[in-house]
Amino acid sequence: MNLNFTEEQLMMRDMVRDFAQNEIAPFVEKMEAGEFPRPILNKMAELGLMGITVPEEYGGSGMDFISYIIAINELSKVSAVIGVILSVHTSVGTNPILYFGNEEQKQKYVPKLAKGEYLGAFCLTEPSAGSDAASLKTRAVKKGDKYIINGSKIFITNGGEADVYIVFAKTDPEKGSRGVTAFIVEKDTPGLIIGKDEKKMGLHGSRTVELSFENMEVPEANRLGEEGEGFKIAMANLDVGRIGIAAQALGIAEAALDAAVKYAGERQQFGKPIIANQGIGFKLADMATAVESARLLVYRAADLRSKGLPCGKEASMAKLFASQTAREVAIEAVQVFGGYGYTKEYPVERYFRDAKITEIYEGTSEIQRIVISKHL
Ligand code: CAA
Repeated sequence: MNLNFTEEQLMMRDMVRDFAQNEIAPFVEKMEAGEFPRPILNKMAELGLMGITVPEEYGGSGMDFISYIIAINELSKVSAVIGVILSVHTSVGTNPILYFGNEEQKQKYVPKLAKGEYLGAFCLTEPSAGSDAASLKTRAVKKGDKYIINGSKIFITNGGEADVYIVFAKTDPEKGSRGVTAFIVEKDTPGLIIGKDEKKMGLHGSRTVELSFENMEVPEANRLGEEGEGFKIAMANLDVGRIGIAAQALGIAEAALDAAVKYAGERQQFGKPIIANQGIGFKLADMATAVESARLLVYRAADLRSKGLPCGKEASMAKLFASQTAREVAIEAVQVFGGYGYTKEYPVERYFRDAKITEIYEGTSEIQRIVISKHL
């Protein structure tokens, strides 16, 4: 694996780093107060960040997968909220249409998603179908040239803000995972009801909502793939999506490590900077080693994906390890800051709150272990 970024990838890194510092950092307080970062997303659209890997013929920036992962990684160092919005929009909001849609569907939706005119969302999880995604109960019944969809979804990232929802429903409940079908649902579809916003521990500013479908009519033309192909579409896109969440977790871990190292070098106790104490210095050494390991796993998975090689196992390994690292490094960063770390004066408490979810969404750590062990 060659971790030397190309000139184009380095330009992406520098551009996103500047953008995050200059435009996103001043907006973090508003997001913490609950504001959805629409102005930031509009600026990201202008920079071509809403369709980084989408081919130019479909309105995207036509860049490689590593550039996309670099962008999520850099954005998440400043705001994990922006990281998850972009990751969900791209890998499970846009890519299912790009990779599994017919030409008409691609022409209709992908350019708008890639240019950021539309925001995407992914609707798989249900109240009684989380880790066991194939047990979903939402039902789609064919009637003429339409499907009538009834059911409900929870924890939908970008819900209430998205223009296009990828919805998974059972067309044949007898067939288990082979009875799941995917649909493209536009936000104004009658019967699509946006439910309550979750009040979350972290990721304030990112919307997470319940959805219900009440006799929602979806034209047959909006069925994605064939009947029964939905579960494979979901799984294939999650394989890749998990590298995005791993990059988000890596960004949080890097930010927490940087903050802790800086503080430990400045904070004086007993007449010397606290980093001079092995209790703190060794802690920082372990944190840095874990971050470096996570970085290698994330870019290893991204490299495989970039080359079009299978990456399901490596994506799950990267997500498993980077999310665990984010949580551990962020909690240790709070410890390095002592009492100050527990206040909102410093960002480390936010990093910790934001880190925790990376071990849960897009497949819990337990699910990543199932995926990895199946590959073994
Ligand atoms: N790619 C393509 N096909 C796949 C696949 C993959 N990665 N994984 C499984 N499949 C196929 C299998 O080949 C099988 O097909 P056949 O019936 O033709 O043989 C079918 O799918 C069923 O496979 P399994 O029997 O292995 O499926 P399972 O029911 O045991 O579930 C699981 C497997 C990995 C546990 C899966 O349920 C899973 O990933 N659960 C976690 C759900 C998840 O990640 N949810 C995230 C929600 S989105 C989100 O969080 C976004 C956000 O907000 C940030």
